[in-house]
Amino acid sequence: MKINIAIDGPSAAGKSTISELLAQRLNYVHLDTGAMYRCTAMKALQCGIALDDEQGVVDMLADTEIRMTPDGTVFLDGQDVTAAIRRDEISMAASDVSKHKEVRRVLVERQQKLAAEKGYIMDGRDIGTVVLKDAEVKIYLTASSYARALRRLKQNRENGISDVDLETIQKEIEARDYQDMHRENSPLTKAEDAVEVDSSDLTIEETVERIMALAMPFIAAEETV
Ligand code: DC
Repeated sequence: MKINIAIDGPSAAGKSTISELLAQRLNYVHLDTGAMYRCTAMKALQCGIALDDEQGVVDMLADTEIRMTPDGTVFLDGQDVTAAIRRDEISMAASDVSKHKEVRRVLVERQQKLAAEKGYIMDGRDIGTVVLKDAEVKIYLTASSYARALRRLKQNRENGISDVDLETIQKEIEARDYQDMHRENSPLTKAEDAVEVDSSDLTIEETVERIMALAMPFIAAEETV
């Protein structure tokens, strides 16, 4: 038997990268739930649906297919949107649509259906607290906003984006943290039974190793079942 691993934390803490590496190591499936909120926001913007029109966004979702392949490609209604959903304006728009209770209900239901068969590493904001409350391993992955902004700046430079400075990136990250932590519905918070991992001074490999060490006893216990 396999287990489920929930990874929550603020934006740009490295959740996706770390989850992807863990999935490869364990031969598990990685599900980036943030990508689902990003797809929702992108389609709403394209269709001219206001981000605060909760019912409009919910109706739109009834007719929306979001699919992710094991190599991390994201398809929105059959179109590859992997790069497009990472744009800065989509980040804040995703945070905006994610405030709505009914939008969350629809997406959480899809996430729970997928993870019912176990073997998932799911990353997001409410995985340990709402989506997979019974996940065997829960990690709250965090890092200082400065460390996160530095990483984002480096990533931007690698992608040829050089017009946003460190201070602006850090402010945007802090604004999104605030919005995600203070919303009414499923705000970002560390689950009581989650283990906090602060990656500010850790490399990606060190972070993966730390989580592997936390998860291995649970994985070993399930393998004997
Ligand atoms: O993880 P991310 O930065 O790609 O997520 C984009 C936004 O989606 C984030 O600001 C808040 C929202 N989100 C959420 O509310 N719940 C999740 N499980 C994942 C993301």
